[in-house]
Amino acid sequence: MEIIILPTAVEVGRMAAAKIASVVSRKPSAVIGLATGSSPQDIYADLARRVQGGEISFAQARGFALDEYVGIPLEHPESYASVIARDVVGPLGFDPARVRVPDGRAADLEFAAKEYDAAIRAAGGIDVQILGIGANGHIGFNEPTSSFASRTRIKTLAPATRAANARFFDSVEEVPMHCMTQGLGTILEARELVLVAQGEGKATAVAGAVEGPVSSFVPGSALQLHEHATVIVDEAAAAQLQLADYYRHVFANKPAWQRFDATPAR
Ligand code: F6R
Repeated sequence: MEIIILPTAVEVGRMAAAKIASVVSRKPSAVIGLATGSSPQDIYADLARRVQGGEISFAQARGFALDEYVGIPLEHPESYASVIARDVVGPLGFDPARVRVPDGRAADLEFAAKEYDAAIRAAGGIDVQILGIGANGHIGFNEPTSSFASRTRIKTLAPATRAANARFFDSVEEVPMHCMTQGLGTILEARELVLVAQGEGKATAVAGAVEGPVSSFVPGSALQLHEHATVIVDEAAAAQLQLADYYRHVFANKPAWQRFDATPAR
């Protein structure tokens, strides 16, 4: 696992965006796994600038969202279908027909979840999966004790997750109780994982995911099982990493052939 510690949240977004951009430059038809929430917002903003500058294009790319609330109307501004359309598909210039979000309104949710996994496979698998992490260590909506073998399925949100996401709704009661999320097994099949975290509220989760034992108690620790995972965090989110100085040393001495261009888009 590569751990990159940067001074600010904006730099975290820029660095992660550079990684995504390098994948799409090499493979314009790349399949991108799309997280929602606050964490990836700076990534999408930087990618949008790169698209506007003509550096990259998502016109041929495909996208699969990580998760969706169950039962939320499609047109609700906080359905992840709405969020992905507003924050990702439009600004990055994806073809809307090539981007999917789990169907949290399906009459047969179990079937819809299985079909979502099948659609990811049929698309050739995810080339690069963007991830945030919850303060309780969840990735996607795989709450603590989710199986590392889990596939896309229905989960019950932890009270802490509903409380954290209440900021997007008028009250915590309005946050749906259930969600459909890619499983940890699904996420681990992506060819590359890029997890971003910002702020001190994520420091415990980041330390658990990166340095803690591999345990379903901290679902983010599943990244330790992946051969190509990068964790990009700001100083506040890195605060509890025991080997922070070593990660800085590794990054400062990265061989030229391993570097990628994180030059800010104009
Ligand atoms: C979002 C997702 C979640 C969030 C996590 C952090 O699609 O799957 O795992 O990444 O809850 O949320 P934020 O970024 O809002 O702090």
